[in-house]
Amino acid sequence: MSLRFRINLVITLVIVAFTIATGNLLIEETRRSIREEMEAGTRITAQLLETVIANTRPNIQDAPHNQILLSFLQRVGRVRANEIRLYDENEKLLYTSPPPVYKRGRWAPQWFTALVRPQLSDFRLNLISGSVVITPDPSRSVLDAWDDLKQFFWLMLGFFVLVNVIVFWLLGRSLRPVGKILGALSLMEKGRFETRLPLFGSPEFDSIGHVFNRMAQTLEESLAENKRLALVAKQSSDAIIIHDLEGRISFWNPAAERMFGYRMEDIVGRSATLLTTPDRNGEIQENLDTVKRRVLIEMIETQRVTKDGRVVDVALSAAPLVDPGSDEVIGEICSMRDITEHKLVRQAELELEQNRQLTHAIQSRLEEERRSIARELHDELGQCVTAIKTIGTAISNRTQESAPDIHANALTIVSVASHIYDVVHGIIRQLRPTALDHLGLSETLKDTVSAWRKRHPEIACDLRLEGELEGMGETINITVYRIVQECLTNVARHAVATHSDIDVSRCSHAQHGDVVKVTVRDNGKGFVQQSEREATRFGLIGMRERVQALEGEFRIDSSLGAGVTVTVVIPVKIPASRAHGAEAA
Ligand SMILES: Nc1ncnc2c1ncn2[C@@H]1O[C@H](COP(=O)(O)OP(=O)(O)OP(=O)(O)O)[C@@H](O)[C@H]1O
Ligand SMILES: [Mg+2]
Repeated sequence: MSLRFRINLVITLVIVAFTIATGNLLIEETRRSIREEMEAGTRITAQLLETVIANTRPNIQDAPHNQILLSFLQRVGRVRANEIRLYDENEKLLYTSPPPVYKRGRWAPQWFTALVRPQLSDFRLNLISGSVVITPDPSRSVLDAWDDLKQFFWLMLGFFVLVNVIVFWLLGRSLRPVGKILGALSLMEKGRFETRLPLFGSPEFDSIGHVFNRMAQTLEESLAENKRLALVAKQSSDAIIIHDLEGRISFWNPAAERMFGYRMEDIVGRSATLLTTPDRNGEIQENLDTVKRRVLIEMIETQRVTKDGRVVDVALSAAPLVDPGSDEVIGEICSMRDITEHKLVRQAELELEQNRQLTHAIQSRLEEERRSIARELHDELGQCVTAIKTIGTAISNRTQESAPDIHANALTIVSVASHIYDVVHGIIRQLRPTALDHLGLSETLKDTVSAWRKRHPEIACDLRLEGELEGMGETINITVYRIVQECLTNVARHAVATHSDIDVSRCSHAQHGDVVKVTVRDNGKGFVQQSEREATRFGLIGMRERVQALEGEFRIDSSLGAGVTVTVVIPVKIPASRAHGAEAA
């Protein structure tokens, strides 16, 4: 039943109740006033007749009393609402007053008459011969009351219809926004949270509209936020798990499914201790105690166990799950990242760093050994050869005239000794480019290249030096020198080239900053690179290792018929510890 109909019904019931109550009062009042009127009328009529009877007594001799009274009554006719009857001494009816002419022929309904008609008794006046009976007749008064009541009823009916029509129309007009509000609510129920209410032009409904629109806006934003969060949780590569304060899991994202092998429907409701290794059983409770104090747990490394019993290294972060209503901690949001691979990478990096340091130490040791051998060769063999050469020269001088055979042999000894001296010095230069110490990198490179040119006149060789190449430290100097040396050896041995270019420059590098860059290219036959594991020679491998030990970059570009280009980049600002280590070595 609609609100409009119900309000109209209530109004109807109120009016009906009012009408009934008023009708009752009216009937009661009518009955009382009819009674009073009847009684008064009867009293007046009786008094009138008594007066007449008393006045007619002296003439009793002249005419029969009854006759006088009869003629009086016939003249008077009907006295108010009373019926008057005259009887003789034998109770014979002599006279009856005429019927009322007022509203003649009309009567109030029986039921109404019964309701309002008072119980009145006849009034009898005894005469000398006969009697007069006065009977009160309230039928006219009852008819008047009935007419009034009918009037009242029609009035009430008119009022009732008018009130109902007005109320119905007003309600219809006032409740029109309710239909729109209901429509908007039903759209919201279907998930259309973008629904908004217009202004209705009535303060009450406008304030409902404002509240509704604010609520819809908040819902829409929360829903969008929830969707975003759900998407984040769904697409996160980290396992996200929510459990209550008893450790029972209530949420489990797809990444958790992938990481631990349990499906959402299998794990929800089960204890989070299912994921811990036996030695870490207390960890769940410890973490819960921490988040209950509203302290965040950030990226602690621990282990968890998968459905198939595999132990995974994880980085775990956890935060309290707070009920927005009560602001109480009701659980824990926990995210876990599988760091097994990360740990392996870290381990590999560590090993690589150790290898680098080892290579560096070996290279330093090698250089030291070379330096020591060069020193020995120079000090011991060089001195001896010089002595042989000096003695041979002395013998040849002394025997030039006296013993030409011995002189010739002595000259041979001097020549061989000179050759040995040159060879030894060549070896010493190879072992230890002492020029590096005296002349610096640029001059040593120029010296080396010029010696190489003399040895290989068929190959044109250009050396370009750029930037400040001095003061980079002995380790870098040696490394650059050895790289140029090995590249030139390879060009001479393998390239079948007619031209070779060497560029050494100090410049700024996007990744490494201050660097020394070495490029050696030739126009020879080139080669197809093998994997270094398959390589049986050590020149290229040695160069790469030297460069990597200094955290630099080493690259070979080559293909058949297109020559070879070796590019090396070495950061100049190497860590102080390593630089000192190298200097010490
Ligand atoms: N400039 C070049 N032109 C053509 N081939 C080259 C050149 N440099 C190197 N190669 C090829 O690469 C191979 C490996 O060179 P690498 O320097 O490692 O060894 P190697 O020179 O043969 O011996 P070593 O161990 O004495 O240096 C060479 O055997 C050669 O085939
Ligand atoms: Mg080589």
